[in-house]
Amino acid sequence: MITEDKVLEALKGVEDPELHRSVVELGMVRNIQIDNDRVALEVVLTIQGCPLKVKIQEDVVNAIKALGASEVDLRFGAMTDEERARVAALIRGESPAQAAQNGTVQGHGAGLNQLSPLLGPESKTQFIAVTSGKGGVGKSTVTVNLAVALARLGKKVGIIDADIYGFSVPDMMGITQRPVVINNMVLPVQRLGVKVISMGFFVEDNSPIIWRGPMLGKMIRNFFSEIHWDELDYMILDLPPGTGDVALDIHQMIPQSKEIIVTTPHPTAAFVASRAGAMAIKTNHEILGVVENMSYYITQDGKHDPIFGSGGGEKLSEELGTETLAQIPLGQPEPMRDEERYAPSVYQENELIGTIYMDLARKVVEKTPVRS
Ligand SMILES: Nc1ncnc2c1ncn2[C@@H]1O[C@H](COP(=O)(O)OP(=O)(O)O)[C@@H](O)[C@H]1O
Ligand SMILES: [Mg+2]
Repeated sequence: MITEDKVLEALKGVEDPELHRSVVELGMVRNIQIDNDRVALEVVLTIQGCPLKVKIQEDVVNAIKALGASEVDLRFGAMTDEERARVAALIRGESPAQAAQNGTVQGHGAGLNQLSPLLGPESKTQFIAVTSGKGGVGKSTVTVNLAVALARLGKKVGIIDADIYGFSVPDMMGITQRPVVINNMVLPVQRLGVKVISMGFFVEDNSPIIWRGPMLGKMIRNFFSEIHWDELDYMILDLPPGTGDVALDIHQMIPQSKEIIVTTPHPTAAFVASRAGAMAIKTNHEILGVVENMSYYITQDGKHDPIFGSGGGEKLSEELGTETLAQIPLGQPEPMRDEERYAPSVYQENELIGTIYMDLARKVVEKTPVRS
């Protein structure tokens, strides 16, 4: 016989696709009515017109049908402000009592405008900024693939796409959704096991943005204060090329961040990249190492052809007193068969370049032991 308890138990296995918590835990299920093998219920959504409604509907109906129900009558409703505030508190990890209290706060919950605990003294998160002397050398490609490789090693990973004018991480990872906002709390988009925040999420129609100095700094700050990151082992930052304002802001805001410097193999590229390295040294940021990208082309018969020159990575590492962590050949990712996980710039774990990124990730883990 189907009972209310059984229905709730079954729905504990259904996650809200954006909040990654069970619909029961989030308090989204109500008015369960059972008439023999027919079940009616209401599901309240955190946001009206939730784009993933269809997915929730399918999962809820399937879970209840698995109990033997012949018919499931599901109606959707919307949460009240108070309920939403409670969900926000729950996600922040506050106790039910705190959550109930914050639930009554108008407008927004507690903890806003404070910098994220990720930046606090208790934080165990390793920050790694990926920089380069100039654009087009593969900084974002390295950011994205290093992050995914770390996630494949079981690490909790976030990306801040801090290249505010030239953001590209969402496209590279095949992200089409936007962050969920609950009571002014912004949840990063999760993709391939990585939590992502990008300026691109906050811009309409991909139009260019012109920020003045103070706004810029504020934007980066917002990426820490308004975003709920939860716990992370690694936060990878895709910095704008060169040594401009944003790079400086990051250096100041995250003095503990370490750096990976990306260059191409041409000696002049390495020369330009050394400026980014010099800035890291001047501001006391540890340089984890150099990644040489587009190092060689693999010919049909398997030979390495250094079509963009050679020696740049080595020259740069020597100059900065560090090591070359990886040499990545030219090559496009193999297309993913699974369309839902399609990400144009992400290499798969077992293709050649994917394995090079796995090695890079393992080296990074070795060089940045988890803080305790
Ligand atoms: N190893 C590589 N092989 C082939 N194409 C690459 C490689 N690395 C990067 N690219 C391509 O080069 C272009 C620039 O890379 P990107 O990561 O956007 O550079 P940046 O962030 O430094 O401007 C992109 O189109 C990217 O797909
Ligand atoms: Mg880029």
